Amino acid sequence: MSAAVIDGRAAAARLRARVAAEARGAGIVPGLTVVIVGDDPASRVYVRNKTKAAATAGFRETTIALPAETSEPALLQVIARLNADDAVDGILVQLPLPKHIRTQAVIEALDPAKDVDGLHPLNAGHLAGGHPRLVPCTPKGVMTLLAEAGVALAGARAVVLGRSTLVGRPVAALLTGADATVTLAHSRTRDLAAECRRAEVLVVAVGRAELVRGDWIAEGATVIDVGINRRADGRLVGDVAFAEAAERAAWITPVPGGVGPMTIASLLENTLIAAKARRGFA
Ligand code: GUN
Repeated sequence: MSAAVIDGRAAAARLRARVAAEARGAGIVPGLTVVIVGDDPASRVYVRNKTKAAATAGFRETTIALPAETSEPALLQVIARLNADDAVDGILVQLPLPKHIRTQAVIEALDPAKDVDGLHPLNAGHLAGGHPRLVPCTPKGVMTLLAEAGVALAGARAVVLGRSTLVGRPVAALLTGADATVTLAHSRTRDLAAECRRAEVLVVAVGRAELVRGDWIAEGATVIDVGINRRADGRLVGDVAFAEAAERAAWITPVPGGVGPMTIASLLENTLIAAKARRGFA
């Protein structure tokens, strides 16, 4: 089999356009504030892409860039101010934070109604309980791509590789909510290859370049690759060896151009959801 490639750029463009049109139609200008601490170059690029997309969608966007030596209490004060600011519908604190700041303390300080990253324990709890409100952006993008490809999830054997708070765990919860039979595999799983071979739907989010080989893929499987890794030669690759896997899969996402663009589109979607909820829309 030679897999059909799921075009994340096209899907993300459609979603961004739909969100922009919906906000316009509802007469809402959602406000998104992104907070970045320090000057990690990759994080700066991500933040710029997020705020650019928000502006293009007609949202009000603000970036608060703080120096790397910002203290945790100072950052918490900024969060408190944004929580209280009625013009702010969504707050995103770019991760990772500098080591002297406790990430969990910062996430817990967010107003859950403005937590457009879906990371606050209240939002994580709603998702775990099967009643999602604000859902983490990358996992939400994964589900949108699966829907776009028309992949039937009810009853399907799904395997998620990686148990991070940002991706693996919420993806497993969303797939469970879609009635898949979900295995959450990770670095301590005894035989990763064997678990993957059982998957009709395989989502990989481990951050290891081309870890998943072609012979780990079941014939006809759907493969969603969340990894973005830069190889020594500068090339961006996913967590899946794409060419090998594409020979066996029915559907596969490329890197770049697969899940990546969906994260930002989902962020806009979440910001609109938060803006509507804060304005009393259904
Ligand atoms: N850093 C890498 N991915 C993400 C994300 O989805 N949200 C935030 N806040 N930071 C990130």
